[in-house]
Amino acid sequence: MTVSGSVRPPGDKSISHRVLMLAALARGKSELSGLLTGADVKSSARVLRQLGADISRIQESGVRISGSRLQAPDSRLNCGNSGTSARLMLGILAGQTFAATLTGDASLRRRPMRRVTEPLKQMGARIKELGDGLPLTIRGGKLRGLEYRSPIASAQVKSAILFAGLTGQVPVTITEPYRSRDHTERLFAHLGLGIHERGGAISYQPSAVRIPSFGIAVPGDISSAAFMVAAAVLAKDGELLVENVGVNPTRTGFLVVLERMGAHVERINLRDEGGEPVADLVVRPARLRGTAVTAAEIPTLVDEVPVLAVLASRALGATVFHEVGELRVKESNRLELVAANLRAVGARAEAQTNDLHVEGTDKPPRGKVQTASDHRLAMAFAVLGTVAGADVKLSERKSVAISYPEFFRDLERMYARRTTHDAR
Ligand code: S3P
Repeated sequence: MTVSGSVRPPGDKSISHRVLMLAALARGKSELSGLLTGADVKSSARVLRQLGADISRIQESGVRISGSRLQAPDSRLNCGNSGTSARLMLGILAGQTFAATLTGDASLRRRPMRRVTEPLKQMGARIKELGDGLPLTIRGGKLRGLEYRSPIASAQVKSAILFAGLTGQVPVTITEPYRSRDHTERLFAHLGLGIHERGGAISYQPSAVRIPSFGIAVPGDISSAAFMVAAAVLAKDGELLVENVGVNPTRTGFLVVLERMGAHVERINLRDEGGEPVADLVVRPARLRGTAVTAAEIPTLVDEVPVLAVLASRALGATVFHEVGELRVKESNRLELVAANLRAVGARAEAQTNDLHVEGTDKPPRGKVQTASDHRLAMAFAVLGTVAGADVKLSERKSVAISYPEFFRDLERMYARRTTHDAR
């Protein structure tokens, strides 16, 4: 197939959650544009409204928020499918004087929360939990500072602690085995909140400054752009422009690995939006070869492993993803499901302890894929279905609404469009 024209991925999910939360904590009116309208971001908005924030309808063109002191909710805070809502809200709630109960859908209730509740308890938050997951009840209050060495590279853990420092007005320092995405740090810096980095340790130092209201344009999500980039790389010919993509170096591991596999993605019109680097991407089809993805690279591409594994299944030779055990506790057990689904469409793939091995083939992929209602599995295997001769059936498609509501429309559009010259 031939690709042409341009697509514009939806707003960055990680940044959308964070700007909503910070605007709800700020005094005064904030104006946010380019926000993701997916279900996960709506979960954060819903929870913040239950805590008293005044938030207009979530739409890409603009959202207005009047922040104020948060109030005790009169019912449970349901975070839906969103791990980011649950874990970052725990940090925010640790600094409040009231109790709140958090829950979520069946997938979220299975996901580990102790990685966040342990350090928050060390700061003085009281947490009632049944096991390592939701529902749980948190009562914050007077916190003490924390120096925390996180056993895992997780932006959600790091951000929860930074938010607890901010709302509890206590100093915190976090170190992690590898640097995870730094959107929280960049936003704190952008708003003049006391954030510092020394030798890989991230510190927040409280100051008398209140959180100012702000205006910000959220860049497009590189994790969503990755699906369009991957489809264009797998196409027969043509060129695709992917507009307005956040290229924060803690998120661009997908492009780095793709380059090693033989696909060069150009970045043009580099610019800055609210402290985040943004570019347009130019993508052309390429012949791929297998590679080794190191443990240090994983945090920079953690959500792109499913689509990279799909690309690896079309590459020459083998690919190994090292130390991807964390994928077992994402929206689904992505490690086992990526491997099982690749096998289901005729490729060779296997999860061995914490590594994922994928063997490339040029046989057309055919078979039925179980998405387990995981948005990134649905999108990764939909991309595999664009390969010549493919027949990939997805168990469901609705889950894309979590992070990329217009995914199928955008995927179709990149093939359908004709230039005036072709149409003649
Ligand atoms: C996110 C961090 C990542 C990522 C998730 C969003 C964030 O999780 O998988 O989709 O917004 O902080 P961890 O850093 O906890 O692995």
